Amino acid sequence: MHVKIFFCTLLLTLGLSTSDEFTYNGFKGVNLSLDGLAGITSDGLLRLTNATKHAMGHAFFPSPMRFKKSQADNVLSFSTTFVFAIFPEYQMLGSAGFTFVLSPSKELAKASADNYLLGIVNMTNNGNASNHILAVEFDTWKSPEAEDINNNHVGIDINSVISNYSKPAGFTSDDDGKFQNLTLFSGELMQAWIEFNGRNMQLNVTLAPLGKPKPKIALLSPTINLSSIILDHMYVGFSGAGGSTYSYYYILGWSFQMDVRAPELNLSSLPSLPQNLISSSSEEKQKTLLPWLPLSLFLVLLTIAGATLVVVRKKKFSEIHDDWELEFESNRFPYKQLHKATRGFKDKCLLGIGGFGRVYRGVLPGPKVEVAVKRVAHESKKAVREFVAEIVSLGKLRHRNLVQLLGYCRRKGELLLVYEYMPNGSLDKFLFSETKQTLDWSLRIQIIKGVASGLQYLHEGWDEVVIHRDIKASNVLLDGDMNGRIGDFGLARLYDQGAAPQTSNVVGTLGFLAPELARTCNVTTSSDVFAFGVFLLEVACGRRAIEPNKQESEQVLVDWVFANWKVGTIHETKDLRLGEDYVLEELDLVLKLGLFCSHPSPSARPSMRQITQFLNGDASFPEMLPYEFRAGGVS
Ligand SMILES: *[C@@H]1O[C@H](CO)[C@@H](O)[C@H](O)[C@H]1NC(C)=O
Ligand SMILES: *[C@@H]1O[C@H](CO)[C@@H](O)[C@H](O)[C@H]1NC(C)=O
Ligand SMILES: *[C@@H]1O[C@H](CO)[C@@H](O)[C@H](O)[C@H]1NC(C)=O
Ligand SMILES: *[C@@H]1O[C@H](CO)[C@@H](O)[C@H](O)[C@H]1NC(C)=O
Ligand SMILES: *[C@@H]1O[C@H](CO)[C@@H](O)[C@H](O)[C@H]1NC(C)=O
Ligand SMILES: *[C@@H]1O[C@H](CO)[C@@H](O)[C@H](O)[C@H]1NC(C)=O
Ligand SMILES: *[C@@H]1O[C@H](CO)[C@@H](O)[C@H](O)[C@H]1NC(C)=O
Ligand SMILES: *[C@@H]1O[C@H](CO)[C@@H](O)[C@H](O)[C@H]1NC(C)=O
Ligand SMILES: *[C@@H]1O[C@H](CO)[C@@H](O)[C@H](O)[C@H]1NC(C)=O
Repeated sequence: MHVKIFFCTLLLTLGLSTSDEFTYNGFKGVNLSLDGLAGITSDGLLRLTNATKHAMGHAFFPSPMRFKKSQADNVLSFSTTFVFAIFPEYQMLGSAGFTFVLSPSKELAKASADNYLLGIVNMTNNGNASNHILAVEFDTWKSPEAEDINNNHVGIDINSVISNYSKPAGFTSDDDGKFQNLTLFSGELMQAWIEFNGRNMQLNVTLAPLGKPKPKIALLSPTINLSSIILDHMYVGFSGAGGSTYSYYYILGWSFQMDVRAPELNLSSLPSLPQNLISSSSEEKQKTLLPWLPLSLFLVLLTIAGATLVVVRKKKFSEIHDDWELEFESNRFPYKQLHKATRGFKDKCLLGIGGFGRVYRGVLPGPKVEVAVKRVAHESKKAVREFVAEIVSLGKLRHRNLVQLLGYCRRKGELLLVYEYMPNGSLDKFLFSETKQTLDWSLRIQIIKGVASGLQYLHEGWDEVVIHRDIKASNVLLDGDMNGRIGDFGLARLYDQGAAPQTSNVVGTLGFLAPELARTCNVTTSSDVFAFGVFLLEVACGRRAIEPNKQESEQVLVDWVFANWKVGTIHETKDLRLGEDYVLEELDLVLKLGLFCSHPSPSARPSMRQITQFLNGDASFPEMLPYEFRAGGVS
């Protein structure tokens, strides 16, 4: 590693000193300004993030660069090159991504890692011209909010994560002029060049696999007048971010120079990547190749062991692949891998049996990630195509209160859906089981707020409105921090599209079905709100929506709570196991909000947005009297 520092004579005479060039072939002992998750490993790698979700890291050259000559507005030429590799938590999925960034400040700590903001902006200042941020993003997640083109692209971002220019990652080969794709999150080493020509204002971004000379044709080469974006002095560096999955972003070497082309990196003196990452990613790769092997396996085994064994084996792991599925290839898990992860779907690994099928706990080989694998029966071939498309697209929804879908696998008559594993299981176990320790009030409120925010996201946070249709305590799962996460979203569609072997059209659970669904099959967000209201009552009262063993007036939870409200005893419906551990105002809010949501008339119910405002105290809950509330309704 070698650092050259040049002093700009003009600045020297002013008594200021600044460097305008550096070359790092590895970062051992290098003084960078790091924050968040960023660090330099003992091997001399710059690692922007570690295995922490919803978090970010930044690394900046410690002193600013001068991008404009005094008095002049023109932005000077600059050039940088770096070598990087991305290792995602799940081989099939990326995570947010990383950027090379020019920023007026090294303090990007107020930026947000979440979802799509890449650690350069937050929800408030995204797109604001006063940011003065120029970033080149290496984005491995398709975020609808950022209008991303795919989950593997390079983009130029001005003050915003909505890229001004972007292209799928890849390069144009100098040999044959053909475009070749690169997968950013493959763990392969790649080199990027970012060059701005101050005279013709062309900003070139070029990518290539490590070891290839810089391709002559750039991936992106727009002409941009940067003069109002770039300030006289700017810091240069990187940001890396992870959302509900993480990635490791490694930078192995980096050079930068004002005015002329950045110094070449000495590729033979770059540090090496951690051995365990490399081996686990190549092991994974072999695993994904396996489904393509059966034919050769067949031939080899035929000679060794005879036909019987092979047929059995082939059948055991056989999957269905159709042409239309190619675009979902990166979301697919090999059946054999899931079989192994769940030890052959042993009963010992069975987590539960839900409305859609059996759920198994599994541990993926390699990175040893825990997952939940749901086996769903399906019949119609056509419907499955739509369903897979939808489920893959829903899998891209990310919110801390949704159970993340990681991928799928398809066999004859069966779909396997792979989800994040939720170590604390489903909420109903805690609420209704005599044996499990009960939940204290503050946890219940935390779970309620989380589920409300997740459901609001399903209703409003995506291009299309996603209606859950089966909100209830048993579909709320608890993660390691006891946050409530909504599971099974999107699965109701499987019934709609006729793919699931069930004749009834109404999806949902008795006791949670909005009354209008009995008349029309027109599900809306307010039928979800109805079910959410019943869910609120379940949590506050610690009992199920319908309990046939109770005396008649208490069988239906909503009616029972409502009847108590009418006579002024609503608080007596609370879960007795809470004892004195509850906040009266909160209990009152949850119970009344529960009734408000389960109002018989859909138009009278609040929206999920209003509900989260009530729960967070951002809007005051309307004081209403019981008769205003359910005039003419069921009571
Ligand atoms: C990630 O880095 C942060 C900050 O350096 C540290 O506090 C945290 O423990 C690290 N987490 C993991 C999982 O390595
Ligand atoms: C690193 O650089 C900063 C900014 O130039 C400086 O304040 C700090 O003293 C340097 N640290 C070391 C260990 O050289
Ligand atoms: C967003 O970032 C800006 C600029 O860094 C900061 O002033 C603001 O407080 C941040 N907003 C939030 C909600 O964190
Ligand atoms: C942009 O940011 C500035 C400074 O933080 C703020 O005053 C202004 O209101 C913001 N503009 C918009 C449109 O949000
Ligand atoms: C591109 O950048 C400019 C800032 O120069 C911004 O105002 C504009 O909205 C951005 N977006 C697109 C799509 O051009
Ligand atoms: C490269 O990726 C794009 C989509 O990102 C795809 O349309 C194209 O077919 C791929 N090309 C090759 C040669 O794989
Ligand atoms: C930028 O890219 C364009 C198009 O690929 C190319 O013609 C031009 O020579 C490049 N400029 C530099 C400085 O490499
Ligand atoms: C670039 O934009 C600035 C103001 O934003 C303007 O003064 C300048 O003339 C522009 N340069 C060119 C070459 O158009
Ligand atoms: C590149 O690094 C290698 C190994 O550290 C060294 O032997 C070689 O001299 C370096 N090459 C240049 C051009 O600096």
